[in-house]
Amino acid sequence: MSSQPTASTAGPAANLAAAHTPESLRTLFPVAGQPLPEAAHAFAPIEQRTCLIDGRLEEWPGEMQQVFSPIGEIDGTGGTGGFTPRLLGRCPILDEAAALRAVDAADRAWADGMGAWPTMGVAERIRHVEDFARRMAARRTEVVRIMMWEICKSWQDASGEFDRTMEYLRDTIDALKDLDRASSRFVIEKGIYAQIRRAPLGPVLCMGPYNYPLNETFCTLMPALIMGNPVIVKTPRLGRLLYSPLMEAFRDAFPAGVVNILHGDRRIVKPIMASGRINVLAFIGSSTAADALRLAHPHPHRLRCVLGLDAKNAGIVLDCADMDLTVAEALQGSFSFNGQRCTALKMLFVHEKRLEEFLARMDEGIRKLRIGMPWDEGVRITPLPVPGKSAYLDDLVRDAAAHGGRVANSGGGTHAETLYHPTVVCPATPQMRVYHEEQFGPVIPVIPFTDIETPVRYVVGSQYGQQLSIFGNDPDDVARLIDPMVNQVCRVNINSQCQRGPDTFPFTGRKDSAEGTLSVSDALRCFSIRTLVAAKGSDANKELLTSILRDRRSNFLSNDFIL
Ligand code: G3H
Repeated sequence: MSSQPTASTAGPAANLAAAHTPESLRTLFPVAGQPLPEAAHAFAPIEQRTCLIDGRLEEWPGEMQQVFSPIGEIDGTGGTGGFTPRLLGRCPILDEAAALRAVDAADRAWADGMGAWPTMGVAERIRHVEDFARRMAARRTEVVRIMMWEICKSWQDASGEFDRTMEYLRDTIDALKDLDRASSRFVIEKGIYAQIRRAPLGPVLCMGPYNYPLNETFCTLMPALIMGNPVIVKTPRLGRLLYSPLMEAFRDAFPAGVVNILHGDRRIVKPIMASGRINVLAFIGSSTAADALRLAHPHPHRLRCVLGLDAKNAGIVLDCADMDLTVAEALQGSFSFNGQRCTALKMLFVHEKRLEEFLARMDEGIRKLRIGMPWDEGVRITPLPVPGKSAYLDDLVRDAAAHGGRVANSGGGTHAETLYHPTVVCPATPQMRVYHEEQFGPVIPVIPFTDIETPVRYVVGSQYGQQLSIFGNDPDDVARLIDPMVNQVCRVNINSQCQRGPDTFPFTGRKDSAEGTLSVSDALRCFSIRTLVAAKGSDANKELLTSILRDRRSNFLSNDFIL
Protein backbone atom coordinates (compact mmCIF):
# COMPACT_ATOMS: atom_id res chain seq x y z
CA MET A 1 0.00 0.00 0.00
CA SER A 2 1.13 3.54 -0.54
CA SER A 3 -0.41 6.92 -0.22
CA GLN A 4 -1.20 9.27 -3.07
CA PRO A 5 1.85 11.02 -4.49
CA THR A 6 0.11 14.41 -4.43
CA ALA A 7 -3.26 15.51 -3.18
CA SER A 8 -6.00 15.97 -5.70
CA THR A 9 -7.01 19.55 -6.36
CA ALA A 10 -10.20 18.71 -8.22
CA GLY A 11 -13.21 19.66 -6.14
CA PRO A 12 -15.50 16.81 -5.07
CA ALA A 13 -19.01 17.00 -6.47
CA ALA A 14 -21.68 16.36 -3.87
CA ASN A 15 -23.61 13.71 -5.83
CA LEU A 16 -20.63 11.51 -6.58
CA ALA A 17 -19.15 8.61 -4.64
CA ALA A 18 -16.27 9.41 -2.31
CA ALA A 19 -12.85 8.73 -3.78
CA HIS A 20 -11.23 5.43 -2.98
CA THR A 21 -8.49 4.95 -0.45
CA PRO A 22 -6.03 2.04 -0.46
CA GLU A 23 -8.11 0.46 2.33
CA SER A 24 -11.37 0.80 0.41
CA LEU A 25 -9.76 -0.66 -2.70
CA ARG A 26 -8.68 -3.70 -0.68
CA THR A 27 -12.24 -4.35 0.40
CA LEU A 28 -13.11 -4.96 -3.27
CA PHE A 29 -11.17 -8.24 -3.33
CA PRO A 30 -12.79 -11.47 -2.14
CA VAL A 31 -12.39 -12.25 1.55
CA ALA A 32 -10.63 -15.47 2.52
CA GLY A 33 -13.02 -18.16 3.72
CA GLN A 34 -16.09 -16.51 2.23
CA PRO A 35 -17.80 -18.08 -0.78
CA LEU A 36 -17.39 -16.38 -4.15
CA PRO A 37 -20.52 -15.19 -5.91
CA GLU A 38 -21.93 -17.40 -8.65
CA ALA A 39 -21.01 -14.72 -11.20
CA ALA A 40 -17.34 -15.40 -10.43
CA HIS A 41 -17.57 -18.71 -12.34
CA ALA A 42 -14.87 -20.11 -10.06
CA PHE A 43 -13.11 -23.30 -11.13
CA ALA A 44 -10.73 -25.81 -9.60
CA PRO A 45 -7.04 -25.39 -10.57
CA ILE A 46 -6.31 -26.65 -14.08
CA GLU A 47 -3.40 -29.04 -14.54
CA GLN A 48 -2.46 -28.41 -18.18
CA ARG A 49 0.21 -31.07 -18.67
CA THR A 50 0.21 -31.25 -22.46
CA CYS A 51 1.23 -29.25 -25.49
CA LEU A 52 0.10 -29.89 -29.05
CA ILE A 53 2.99 -31.08 -31.20
CA ASP A 54 2.64 -32.95 -34.49
CA GLY A 55 -1.03 -33.71 -33.96
CA ARG A 56 -0.50 -35.24 -30.52
CA LEU A 57 -1.17 -33.85 -27.06
CA GLU A 58 2.32 -34.55 -25.73
CA GLU A 59 2.62 -35.10 -21.98
CA TRP A 60 5.28 -32.79 -20.59
CA PRO A 61 7.36 -34.39 -17.85
CA GLY A 62 9.51 -31.31 -17.09
CA GLU A 63 9.32 -27.88 -15.45
CA MET A 64 5.86 -26.49 -14.80
CA GLN A 65 4.73 -22.92 -14.19
CA GLN A 66 2.18 -22.01 -11.56
CA VAL A 67 -0.43 -19.67 -12.98
CA PHE A 68 -1.85 -17.16 -10.50
CA SER A 69 -4.73 -14.78 -10.96
CA PRO A 70 -4.30 -11.04 -10.32
CA ILE A 71 -7.26 -11.61 -8.01
CA GLY A 72 -6.35 -12.60 -4.49
CA GLU A 73 -8.13 -13.13 -1.24
CA ILE A 74 -7.77 -10.73 1.63
CA ASP A 75 -7.42 -12.31 5.07
CA GLY A 76 -9.97 -10.75 7.35
CA THR A 77 -12.74 -8.30 6.58
CA GLY A 78 -12.42 -4.50 6.29
CA GLY A 79 -9.57 -4.67 3.79
CA THR A 80 -6.99 -5.61 6.38
CA GLY A 81 -4.75 -8.68 6.42
CA GLY A 82 -2.62 -10.50 3.87
CA PHE A 83 -3.31 -10.88 0.16
CA THR A 84 -3.13 -14.36 -1.36
CA PRO A 85 -3.37 -14.52 -5.16
CA ARG A 86 -5.58 -17.36 -6.34
CA LEU A 87 -3.82 -20.28 -7.98
CA LEU A 88 -5.52 -21.01 -11.31
CA GLY A 89 -3.46 -23.97 -12.37
CA ARG A 90 -0.16 -25.06 -13.83
CA CYS A 91 1.16 -25.32 -17.34
CA PRO A 92 4.38 -26.50 -18.96
CA ILE A 93 7.52 -24.48 -19.47
CA LEU A 94 8.86 -26.35 -22.45
CA ASP A 95 12.53 -26.62 -23.30
CA GLU A 96 14.43 -26.15 -26.53
CA ALA A 97 14.13 -29.82 -27.54
CA ALA A 98 10.33 -29.71 -27.34
CA ALA A 99 10.28 -26.43 -29.28
CA LEU A 100 12.40 -27.97 -32.02
CA ARG A 101 10.08 -30.98 -32.21
CA ALA A 102 7.31 -28.50 -33.05
CA VAL A 103 9.53 -26.93 -35.72
CA ASP A 104 10.14 -30.39 -37.19
CA ALA A 105 6.40 -31.07 -37.18
CA ALA A 106 5.55 -27.78 -38.90
CA ASP A 107 8.36 -28.38 -41.36
CA ARG A 108 7.01 -31.85 -42.19
CA ALA A 109 3.52 -30.43 -42.70
CA TRP A 110 5.02 -27.81 -45.02
CA ALA A 111 7.28 -30.35 -46.80
CA ASP A 112 8.97 -27.64 -48.84
CA GLY A 113 5.56 -26.40 -49.90
CA MET A 114 4.54 -29.87 -51.13
CA GLY A 115 2.71 -31.05 -48.00
CA ALA A 116 -0.96 -31.95 -47.99
CA TRP A 117 -1.96 -28.72 -46.17
CA PRO A 118 -0.15 -26.17 -48.39
CA THR A 119 -1.31 -27.92 -51.58
CA MET A 120 -4.86 -28.60 -50.40
CA GLY A 121 -7.74 -26.95 -52.25
CA VAL A 122 -9.15 -23.83 -50.62
CA ALA A 123 -12.61 -25.34 -50.15
CA GLU A 124 -11.17 -28.24 -48.19
CA ARG A 125 -9.02 -26.01 -45.98
CA ILE A 126 -12.10 -23.95 -45.26
CA ARG A 127 -13.91 -27.14 -44.16
CA HIS A 128 -11.16 -27.81 -41.59
CA VAL A 129 -11.42 -24.26 -40.23
CA GLU A 130 -15.22 -24.49 -40.07
CA ASP A 131 -14.91 -27.77 -38.19
CA PHE A 132 -12.56 -26.06 -35.73
CA ALA A 133 -14.96 -23.11 -35.35
CA ARG A 134 -17.80 -25.47 -34.38
CA ARG A 135 -15.64 -27.20 -31.78
CA MET A 136 -14.39 -23.85 -30.44
CA ALA A 137 -17.89 -22.38 -30.12
CA ALA A 138 -18.82 -25.31 -27.85
CA ARG A 139 -16.10 -24.28 -25.34
CA ARG A 140 -17.10 -20.60 -25.07
CA THR A 141 -18.01 -20.53 -21.37
CA GLU A 142 -14.82 -22.28 -20.27
CA VAL A 143 -12.57 -20.02 -22.35
CA VAL A 144 -14.34 -16.87 -21.17
CA ARG A 145 -14.19 -17.76 -17.49
CA ILE A 146 -10.52 -18.72 -17.61
CA MET A 147 -9.74 -15.49 -19.47
CA MET A 148 -11.62 -13.50 -16.87
CA TRP A 149 -9.59 -15.03 -14.04
CA GLU A 150 -6.24 -15.00 -15.84
CA ILE A 151 -6.14 -11.42 -17.10
CA CYS A 152 -9.12 -9.89 -15.28
CA LYS A 153 -11.00 -8.80 -18.36
CA SER A 154 -14.58 -8.26 -17.19
CA TRP A 155 -17.01 -11.09 -17.91
CA GLN A 156 -18.70 -8.90 -20.48
CA ASP A 157 -15.45 -7.91 -22.22
CA ALA A 158 -14.04 -11.46 -22.13
CA SER A 159 -17.27 -12.70 -23.71
CA GLY A 160 -16.95 -9.88 -26.25
CA GLU A 161 -13.40 -10.96 -27.06
CA PHE A 162 -14.53 -14.55 -27.65
CA ASP A 163 -17.46 -13.50 -29.84
CA ARG A 164 -15.36 -11.02 -31.81
CA THR A 165 -12.90 -13.83 -32.48
CA MET A 166 -15.63 -16.15 -33.75
CA GLU A 167 -16.91 -13.38 -35.99
CA TYR A 168 -13.38 -12.76 -37.25
CA LEU A 169 -13.13 -16.44 -38.12
CA ARG A 170 -16.39 -16.39 -40.07
CA ASP A 171 -15.40 -13.16 -41.85
CA THR A 172 -12.00 -14.63 -42.71
CA ILE A 173 -13.67 -17.60 -44.35
CA ASP A 174 -15.94 -15.28 -46.34
CA ALA A 175 -13.00 -13.07 -47.35
CA LEU A 176 -11.05 -16.10 -48.55
CA LYS A 177 -14.03 -17.32 -50.55
CA ASP A 178 -14.19 -13.89 -52.22
CA LEU A 179 -10.46 -13.93 -52.90
CA ASP A 180 -10.66 -17.42 -54.34
CA ARG A 181 -13.64 -16.59 -56.53
CA ALA A 182 -11.77 -13.59 -57.94
CA SER A 183 -8.77 -15.85 -58.67
CA SER A 184 -10.75 -18.65 -60.25
CA ARG A 185 -10.59 -17.09 -63.70
CA PHE A 186 -7.77 -16.74 -66.19
CA VAL A 187 -6.18 -13.45 -67.13
CA ILE A 188 -5.23 -13.08 -70.80
CA GLU A 189 -2.68 -10.38 -71.48
CA LYS A 190 -0.48 -9.94 -74.57
CA GLY A 191 -1.25 -13.46 -75.73
CA ILE A 192 -0.32 -15.02 -72.38
CA TYR A 193 -2.88 -16.98 -70.39
CA ALA A 194 -2.33 -16.85 -66.63
CA GLN A 195 -4.01 -17.87 -63.45
CA ILE A 196 -2.89 -15.78 -60.50
CA ARG A 197 -3.50 -16.98 -56.95
CA ARG A 198 -2.16 -16.40 -53.48
CA ALA A 199 0.04 -19.22 -52.20
CA PRO A 200 1.31 -19.92 -48.65
CA LEU A 201 4.72 -18.84 -47.39
CA GLY A 202 5.73 -21.65 -45.03
CA PRO A 203 5.90 -22.25 -41.27
CA VAL A 204 4.65 -19.34 -39.17
CA LEU A 205 5.49 -18.54 -35.54
CA CYS A 206 2.50 -16.83 -34.04
CA MET A 207 2.58 -14.93 -30.73
CA GLY A 208 -0.26 -12.80 -29.35
CA PRO A 209 -0.29 -10.34 -26.44
CA TYR A 210 -1.67 -10.78 -22.93
CA ASN A 211 -4.32 -8.07 -23.27
CA TYR A 212 -6.07 -9.88 -26.13
CA PRO A 213 -4.69 -13.37 -25.55
CA LEU A 214 -7.32 -15.08 -27.67
CA ASN A 215 -8.38 -12.51 -30.22
CA GLU A 216 -5.03 -11.09 -31.26
CA THR A 217 -3.47 -14.54 -31.46
CA PHE A 218 -6.31 -15.77 -33.65
CA CYS A 219 -6.15 -12.64 -35.83
CA THR A 220 -2.85 -13.93 -37.20
CA LEU A 221 -3.21 -17.67 -36.53
CA MET A 222 -6.42 -18.14 -38.52
CA PRO A 223 -5.45 -16.24 -41.68
CA ALA A 224 -2.03 -17.91 -41.61
CA LEU A 225 -3.62 -21.35 -41.36
CA ILE A 226 -6.37 -20.89 -43.86
CA MET A 227 -3.87 -19.67 -46.46
CA GLY A 228 -2.05 -23.02 -46.18
CA ASN A 229 0.77 -22.27 -43.74
CA PRO A 230 1.58 -24.62 -40.85
CA VAL A 231 1.68 -22.68 -37.57
CA ILE A 232 3.44 -22.81 -34.23
CA VAL A 233 1.63 -20.83 -31.55
CA LYS A 234 3.54 -19.74 -28.47
CA THR A 235 0.82 -18.83 -25.99
CA PRO A 236 0.97 -15.34 -24.37
CA ARG A 237 2.89 -14.93 -21.11
CA LEU A 238 -0.43 -14.22 -19.39
CA GLY A 239 -3.55 -15.85 -20.75
CA ARG A 240 -2.21 -19.36 -21.27
CA LEU A 241 -4.65 -21.57 -19.46
CA LEU A 242 -7.51 -20.33 -21.61
CA TYR A 243 -6.01 -22.41 -24.41
CA SER A 244 -6.63 -25.61 -22.41
CA PRO A 245 -10.27 -26.05 -23.51
CA LEU A 246 -9.22 -25.59 -27.16
CA MET A 247 -6.33 -28.05 -27.39
CA GLU A 248 -8.43 -31.03 -28.44
CA ALA A 249 -10.32 -28.94 -30.98
CA PHE A 250 -7.02 -27.96 -32.62
CA ARG A 251 -5.81 -31.56 -32.55
CA ASP A 252 -8.99 -32.98 -34.05
CA ALA A 253 -9.76 -30.32 -36.65
CA PHE A 254 -6.38 -30.10 -38.40
CA PRO A 255 -3.94 -32.61 -39.89
CA ALA A 256 -0.84 -33.48 -37.82
CA GLY A 257 1.77 -30.73 -37.60
CA VAL A 258 -0.44 -28.02 -39.10
CA VAL A 259 -1.12 -26.43 -35.70
CA ASN A 260 1.34 -26.77 -32.83
CA ILE A 261 0.67 -25.08 -29.50
CA LEU A 262 3.50 -24.49 -27.07
CA HIS A 263 3.68 -23.03 -23.58
CA GLY A 264 6.93 -21.51 -22.47
CA ASP A 265 9.11 -18.42 -22.58
CA ARG A 266 12.00 -16.94 -24.55
CA ARG A 267 13.93 -20.17 -24.02
CA ILE A 268 11.70 -21.75 -26.65
CA VAL A 269 11.09 -18.90 -29.07
CA LYS A 270 14.75 -18.02 -29.63
CA PRO A 271 15.67 -21.58 -30.76
CA ILE A 272 12.57 -21.70 -32.96
CA MET A 273 13.72 -18.56 -34.76
CA ALA A 274 17.38 -19.60 -34.75
CA SER A 275 16.42 -22.83 -36.54
CA GLY A 276 15.94 -20.72 -39.68
CA ARG A 277 12.86 -22.78 -40.53
CA ILE A 278 10.28 -20.12 -39.73
CA ASN A 279 9.22 -18.11 -42.76
CA VAL A 280 6.80 -15.70 -41.08
CA LEU A 281 6.93 -14.14 -37.64
CA ALA A 282 3.51 -12.92 -36.52
CA PHE A 283 4.07 -11.10 -33.28
CA ILE A 284 2.02 -8.64 -31.26
CA GLY A 285 3.88 -7.19 -28.31
CA SER A 286 6.89 -4.99 -27.61
CA SER A 287 9.31 -3.84 -30.31
CA THR A 288 12.26 -4.93 -28.15
CA ALA A 289 11.04 -8.53 -28.08
CA ALA A 290 10.18 -8.44 -31.80
CA ASP A 291 13.66 -7.17 -32.68
CA ALA A 292 15.33 -9.90 -30.64
CA LEU A 293 13.26 -12.57 -32.41
CA ARG A 294 13.90 -11.20 -35.86
CA LEU A 295 17.64 -10.98 -35.20
CA ALA A 296 17.72 -14.59 -34.00
CA HIS A 297 16.74 -15.74 -37.51
CA PRO A 298 19.80 -16.66 -39.59
CA HIS A 299 18.22 -15.45 -42.85
CA PRO A 300 16.31 -12.28 -41.93
CA HIS A 301 15.68 -11.42 -45.60
CA ARG A 302 13.69 -14.65 -45.97
CA LEU A 303 11.61 -13.87 -42.94
CA ARG A 304 8.39 -11.96 -43.37
CA CYS A 305 7.34 -10.08 -40.23
CA VAL A 306 3.77 -9.17 -39.36
CA LEU A 307 4.11 -7.06 -36.23
CA GLY A 308 1.83 -5.07 -33.94
CA LEU A 309 4.12 -3.17 -31.59
CA ASP A 310 4.30 -0.24 -29.15
CA ALA A 311 2.10 2.82 -29.43
CA LYS A 312 1.43 6.01 -27.53
CA ASN A 313 -1.64 7.39 -29.22
CA ALA A 314 -2.45 11.02 -28.52
CA GLY A 315 -5.81 12.72 -28.22
CA ILE A 316 -5.94 16.41 -29.16
CA VAL A 317 -8.77 18.35 -27.54
CA LEU A 318 -9.29 21.60 -29.49
CA ASP A 319 -10.98 24.63 -27.98
CA CYS A 320 -13.98 23.91 -30.26
CA ALA A 321 -14.51 20.42 -28.74
CA ASP A 322 -17.91 19.14 -27.63
CA MET A 323 -16.99 18.42 -24.03
CA ASP A 324 -19.70 15.80 -23.30
CA LEU A 325 -18.60 13.68 -26.20
CA THR A 326 -14.87 14.34 -25.68
CA VAL A 327 -14.87 13.30 -22.04
CA ALA A 328 -16.93 10.17 -22.75
CA GLU A 329 -14.45 9.12 -25.47
CA ALA A 330 -11.39 10.12 -23.42
CA LEU A 331 -12.60 7.98 -20.51
CA GLN A 332 -13.20 5.02 -22.80
CA GLY A 333 -9.98 5.56 -24.70
CA SER A 334 -7.79 5.95 -21.62
CA PHE A 335 -9.34 3.49 -19.21
CA SER A 336 -11.17 0.68 -20.99
CA PHE A 337 -9.60 -2.59 -19.84
CA ASN A 338 -7.57 -0.37 -17.48
CA GLY A 339 -5.78 1.32 -20.39
CA GLN A 340 -4.25 -2.02 -21.39
CA ARG A 341 -4.87 -1.67 -25.12
CA CYS A 342 -2.27 -0.86 -27.73
CA THR A 343 -4.82 1.56 -29.17
CA ALA A 344 -5.54 3.24 -25.82
CA LEU A 345 -5.23 7.01 -25.61
CA LYS A 346 -1.94 7.44 -23.74
CA MET A 347 -1.45 11.23 -24.04
CA LEU A 348 -4.07 13.96 -23.98
CA PHE A 349 -3.30 17.45 -25.31
CA VAL A 350 -5.99 19.86 -24.10
CA HIS A 351 -6.40 23.47 -25.16
CA GLU A 352 -5.75 25.82 -22.23
CA LYS A 353 -9.16 27.45 -22.68
CA ARG A 354 -10.92 24.16 -21.93
CA LEU A 355 -8.42 22.66 -19.48
CA GLU A 356 -10.16 23.26 -16.13
CA GLU A 357 -13.50 22.17 -17.55
CA PHE A 358 -11.91 19.04 -19.05
CA LEU A 359 -10.15 18.06 -15.81
CA ALA A 360 -13.28 18.59 -13.72
CA ARG A 361 -15.35 16.51 -16.14
CA MET A 362 -12.74 13.76 -16.21
CA ASP A 363 -12.74 13.69 -12.41
CA GLU A 364 -16.51 13.42 -12.39
CA GLY A 365 -16.43 10.71 -15.05
CA ILE A 366 -13.74 8.67 -13.32
CA ARG A 367 -15.71 8.63 -10.09
CA LYS A 368 -18.52 6.93 -11.99
CA LEU A 369 -16.24 4.17 -13.26
CA ARG A 370 -16.92 1.13 -11.14
CA ILE A 371 -13.77 -0.45 -9.72
CA GLY A 372 -13.94 -4.07 -8.65
CA MET A 373 -13.69 -7.71 -9.63
CA PRO A 374 -14.23 -8.68 -13.27
CA TRP A 375 -17.51 -10.42 -12.49
CA ASP A 376 -19.04 -7.34 -10.83
CA GLU A 377 -21.94 -5.92 -12.83
CA GLY A 378 -20.86 -2.87 -14.84
CA VAL A 379 -17.25 -3.01 -13.61
CA ARG A 380 -14.78 -0.90 -15.61
CA ILE A 381 -11.55 -1.03 -13.61
CA THR A 382 -10.21 -4.45 -12.60
CA PRO A 383 -6.99 -5.93 -11.15
CA LEU A 384 -3.88 -5.64 -13.33
CA PRO A 385 -2.35 -8.95 -14.41
CA VAL A 386 1.28 -7.90 -15.02
CA PRO A 387 3.32 -8.56 -11.85
CA GLY A 388 4.60 -5.31 -10.33
CA LYS A 389 2.37 -3.13 -12.52
CA SER A 390 0.88 -1.08 -9.67
CA ALA A 391 4.39 -0.26 -8.43
CA TYR A 392 5.45 0.73 -11.96
CA LEU A 393 2.46 3.05 -12.39
CA ASP A 394 3.09 4.48 -8.94
CA ASP A 395 6.68 5.23 -9.99
CA LEU A 396 5.42 7.02 -13.09
CA VAL A 397 3.03 9.16 -11.06
CA ARG A 398 5.67 9.94 -8.43
CA ASP A 399 8.16 10.87 -11.13
CA ALA A 400 5.57 13.19 -12.67
CA ALA A 401 4.91 14.73 -9.27
CA ALA A 402 8.65 15.30 -8.78
CA HIS A 403 8.65 17.21 -12.07
CA GLY A 404 5.75 19.47 -11.27
CA GLY A 405 2.75 17.36 -12.32
CA ARG A 406 -0.22 16.98 -10.02
CA VAL A 407 -2.76 14.21 -9.70
CA ALA A 408 -5.81 15.95 -11.07
CA ASN A 409 -8.60 13.62 -9.97
CA SER A 410 -9.96 12.41 -6.66
CA GLY A 411 -8.49 9.08 -5.72
CA GLY A 412 -5.86 9.31 -8.47
CA GLY A 413 -2.62 7.55 -7.59
CA THR A 414 -4.36 5.31 -5.06
CA HIS A 415 -3.63 1.64 -5.36
CA ALA A 416 -3.85 -1.57 -3.41
CA GLU A 417 -2.32 -4.86 -4.46
CA THR A 418 -3.25 -5.30 -8.15
CA LEU A 419 -5.91 -2.60 -8.27
CA TYR A 420 -4.85 0.83 -9.50
CA HIS A 421 -7.26 3.75 -9.41
CA PRO A 422 -7.59 5.67 -12.71
CA THR A 423 -5.30 8.66 -12.55
CA VAL A 424 -5.01 11.91 -14.49
CA VAL A 425 -1.66 13.69 -14.28
CA CYS A 426 -1.46 17.37 -15.26
CA PRO A 427 0.51 19.20 -16.54
CA ALA A 428 2.69 16.56 -18.14
CA THR A 429 6.00 17.68 -19.60
CA PRO A 430 8.81 16.09 -21.62
CA GLN A 431 10.87 15.82 -18.41
CA MET A 432 8.52 13.12 -17.13
CA ARG A 433 8.75 9.41 -17.82
CA VAL A 434 5.01 9.21 -18.40
CA TYR A 435 5.46 11.58 -21.36
CA HIS A 436 7.66 9.01 -23.12
CA GLU A 437 6.88 5.55 -21.77
CA GLU A 438 3.93 3.48 -22.93
CA GLN A 439 2.19 3.18 -19.57
CA PHE A 440 -0.29 0.45 -20.66
CA GLY A 441 -2.31 1.11 -17.53
CA PRO A 442 -4.88 3.51 -16.06
CA VAL A 443 -2.68 6.63 -15.85
CA ILE A 444 -3.25 9.40 -18.37
CA PRO A 445 -0.99 12.44 -18.74
CA VAL A 446 -2.60 15.71 -19.83
CA ILE A 447 -0.58 18.39 -21.62
CA PRO A 448 -2.14 21.85 -21.85
CA PHE A 449 -1.49 23.79 -25.06
CA THR A 450 -2.34 27.08 -26.71
CA ASP A 451 -0.35 26.64 -29.90
CA ILE A 452 -1.46 23.68 -32.06
CA GLU A 453 2.21 23.19 -32.91
CA THR A 454 2.67 21.68 -29.41
CA PRO A 455 0.72 18.47 -30.11
CA VAL A 456 1.80 18.43 -33.74
CA ARG A 457 5.49 18.52 -32.73
CA TYR A 458 4.84 15.70 -30.25
CA VAL A 459 3.22 13.48 -32.87
CA VAL A 460 5.89 14.24 -35.48
CA GLY A 461 8.73 13.65 -33.02
CA SER A 462 7.26 10.47 -31.53
CA GLN A 463 8.88 7.17 -32.32
CA TYR A 464 5.38 5.69 -32.59
CA GLY A 465 2.81 6.17 -35.33
CA GLN A 466 -0.29 4.09 -34.78
CA GLN A 467 -3.34 6.36 -34.37
CA LEU A 468 -4.51 9.77 -33.22
CA SER A 469 -7.77 11.29 -32.02
CA ILE A 470 -8.89 14.84 -32.75
CA PHE A 471 -11.73 16.30 -30.71
CA GLY A 472 -13.30 19.44 -32.16
CA ASN A 473 -16.25 20.76 -34.12
CA ASP A 474 -14.76 23.56 -36.21
CA PRO A 475 -14.30 22.21 -39.75
CA ASP A 476 -11.32 24.51 -40.43
CA ASP A 477 -9.48 23.56 -37.26
CA VAL A 478 -10.11 19.85 -37.70
CA ALA A 479 -9.28 19.84 -41.42
CA ARG A 480 -6.02 21.72 -40.80
CA LEU A 481 -4.85 18.80 -38.68
CA ILE A 482 -6.06 15.94 -40.86
CA ASP A 483 -3.73 16.30 -43.84
CA PRO A 484 -0.44 16.53 -41.92
CA MET A 485 -1.49 13.90 -39.38
CA VAL A 486 -2.46 11.14 -41.83
CA ASN A 487 1.19 11.06 -42.81
CA GLN A 488 2.24 10.57 -39.18
CA VAL A 489 -0.15 7.82 -38.09
CA CYS A 490 -2.31 5.22 -39.81
CA ARG A 491 -5.71 6.24 -38.51
CA VAL A 492 -6.98 9.68 -37.54
CA ASN A 493 -10.13 9.40 -35.43
CA ILE A 494 -12.45 12.38 -35.36
CA ASN A 495 -14.36 12.91 -32.11
CA SER A 496 -13.74 9.31 -31.19
CA GLN A 497 -11.22 7.30 -29.19
CA CYS A 498 -8.59 5.28 -31.07
CA GLN A 499 -9.50 1.69 -31.82
CA ARG A 500 -8.75 -1.26 -34.05
CA GLY A 501 -12.27 -2.15 -35.15
CA PRO A 502 -14.25 -2.74 -37.21
CA ASP A 503 -11.94 -5.64 -38.06
CA THR A 504 -12.50 -5.14 -41.77
CA PHE A 505 -10.67 -1.78 -41.54
CA PRO A 506 -6.90 -1.76 -42.07
CA PHE A 507 -5.03 -1.84 -38.78
CA THR A 508 -1.36 -0.91 -38.83
CA GLY A 509 1.10 1.77 -37.76
CA ARG A 510 4.10 3.77 -38.91
CA LYS A 511 7.58 4.05 -37.37
CA ASP A 512 8.07 1.65 -34.43
CA SER A 513 4.37 0.79 -34.12
CA ALA A 514 3.81 -1.96 -36.69
CA GLU A 515 4.92 -3.84 -39.72
CA GLY A 516 2.35 -5.21 -42.15
CA THR A 517 -1.35 -4.46 -42.15
CA LEU A 518 -3.99 -6.53 -40.42
CA SER A 519 -7.68 -6.62 -41.20
CA VAL A 520 -9.87 -9.52 -42.22
CA SER A 521 -8.78 -9.26 -45.86
CA ASP A 522 -5.29 -7.71 -45.42
CA ALA A 523 -4.26 -10.56 -43.11
CA LEU A 524 -4.91 -13.09 -45.89
CA ARG A 525 -2.43 -11.17 -48.00
CA CYS A 526 0.13 -10.92 -45.18
CA PHE A 527 0.36 -14.70 -44.93
CA SER A 528 0.58 -15.46 -48.64
CA ILE A 529 2.36 -14.45 -51.80
CA ARG A 530 1.04 -14.03 -55.32
CA THR A 531 2.05 -16.89 -57.59
CA LEU A 532 0.92 -17.52 -61.13
CA VAL A 533 0.86 -20.20 -63.73
CA ALA A 534 1.31 -18.74 -67.21
CA ALA A 535 1.37 -20.15 -70.71
CA LYS A 536 1.58 -18.67 -74.18
CA GLY A 537 -1.81 -18.97 -75.85
CA SER A 538 -0.88 -21.55 -78.46
CA ASP A 539 -3.52 -24.10 -79.49
CA ALA A 540 -1.53 -26.89 -77.86
CA ASN A 541 -1.25 -24.96 -74.57
CA LYS A 542 -4.94 -24.07 -74.61
CA GLU A 543 -5.80 -27.73 -75.06
CA LEU A 544 -3.43 -28.68 -72.24
CA LEU A 545 -4.88 -26.10 -69.85
CA THR A 546 -8.43 -27.08 -70.77
CA SER A 547 -7.70 -30.72 -70.05
CA ILE A 548 -6.20 -29.91 -66.62
CA LEU A 549 -9.17 -27.74 -65.74
CA ARG A 550 -11.83 -30.10 -67.10
CA ASP A 551 -10.48 -33.12 -65.24
CA ARG A 552 -9.67 -31.13 -62.10
CA ARG A 553 -6.07 -32.35 -62.11
CA SER A 554 -4.72 -29.36 -60.13
CA ASN A 555 -5.84 -27.49 -57.03
CA PHE A 556 -4.02 -24.32 -58.09
CA LEU A 557 -4.92 -24.32 -61.77
CA SER A 558 -8.62 -24.58 -61.34
CA ASN A 559 -11.71 -22.60 -62.23
CA ASP A 560 -13.87 -24.12 -59.51
CA PHE A 561 -16.02 -21.42 -58.00
CA ILE A 562 -16.66 -21.75 -54.25
CA LEU A 563 -20.32 -21.10 -53.53
O1 G3H B 1 -4.14 -3.91 -27.82
C1 G3H B 1 -4.24 -3.62 -29.00
C2 G3H B 1 -5.47 -3.98 -29.73
O2 G3H B 1 -5.19 -4.17 -31.08
C3 G3H B 1 -6.52 -2.95 -29.53
O3 G3H B 1 -7.71 -3.35 -30.11
O4 G3H B 1 -8.87 -1.16 -30.25
O5 G3H B 1 -10.10 -3.29 -30.53
O6 G3H B 1 -9.23 -2.62 -28.29
P1 G3H B 1 -9.05 -2.56 -29.77
